[in-house]
Amino acid sequence: MSEPVNKRPIGVFDSGLGGLTVLKAVMARLPHEDTIYFGDSGRAPYGSKSADTVTKFSLQNARFLLEQQVKMIIIACNTASSRAFDAVSQSAGLPVIEVIGPGARAAAQATRNRRIGVIGTRGTVDSQVYPAAIRRCLDGPADIYQQACPLFVSLAEEGWWDRPVTYDIARIYLEPLLERGIDTLVLGCTHYPLLSGVIAAAAGPDVRLVNAGAPIAGIVAQTLERTGLINDSRLPGKHVYFTSDSVEQFKTLGSAFLDEPVEQAYRIDIERY
Ligand code: DGL
Repeated sequence: MSEPVNKRPIGVFDSGLGGLTVLKAVMARLPHEDTIYFGDSGRAPYGSKSADTVTKFSLQNARFLLEQQVKMIIIACNTASSRAFDAVSQSAGLPVIEVIGPGARAAAQATRNRRIGVIGTRGTVDSQVYPAAIRRCLDGPADIYQQACPLFVSLAEEGWWDRPVTYDIARIYLEPLLERGIDTLVLGCTHYPLLSGVIAAAAGPDVRLVNAGAPIAGIVAQTLERTGLINDSRLPGKHVYFTSDSVEQFKTLGSAFLDEPVEQAYRIDIERY
């Protein structure tokens, strides 16, 4: 007899380690769910690639996860969410979660002076999805300033999460936003929460950082409940990881970030999908 659909794992993908910031929040919120994570570190960064390439990569990642019999796909990448959400959700035939809406809503709730900064990859910034999504959540005028921070993804993938050079780069990237008097800063790339210590230090105490991890996990929980897909097991969830690059690097940095050992990690050839 085949396994009930609600017992299947949740599939999560990102261009690399960044989606672990979403996975961590999902694991905290839904501890009985099994998950399968794919980090496309071999083809990262996505943020500097064209919309067509990001869409092609995202569809391959989704096909890999569908082959693993997942019950839902979380696009744990802002760049892929902004470029490829429609393509993935139309082809997947199961619930697909994107990560822009939850961050936009959290920013709209957090701001007091309606001056909001958004940092993300070049692809996300160019797509203009955040200003549009934040404006939809706020009645009346708002000033939204964006800044692409392409070096952050390499620093995060390298594990340089709290080096002095990372702090210096953060200061340079944030300066134009801070000059505009923002009181809220959206971490509009799932890699950036890995650097949240240095970003918070560079932003200063008057700026609220929006890490959408917990709100995204909330949407995942609501969607599973609404579609009858919650896993009713009382056992701790099992977590399996796949990468398109070095398994050792993934295990070392993934374990450090998740605060739990990444044991089952495998390398795959994503070009086959
Ligand atoms: N973590 C991804 C995002 O949220 C992509 C980073 C990249 O590969 O450029 O946008």
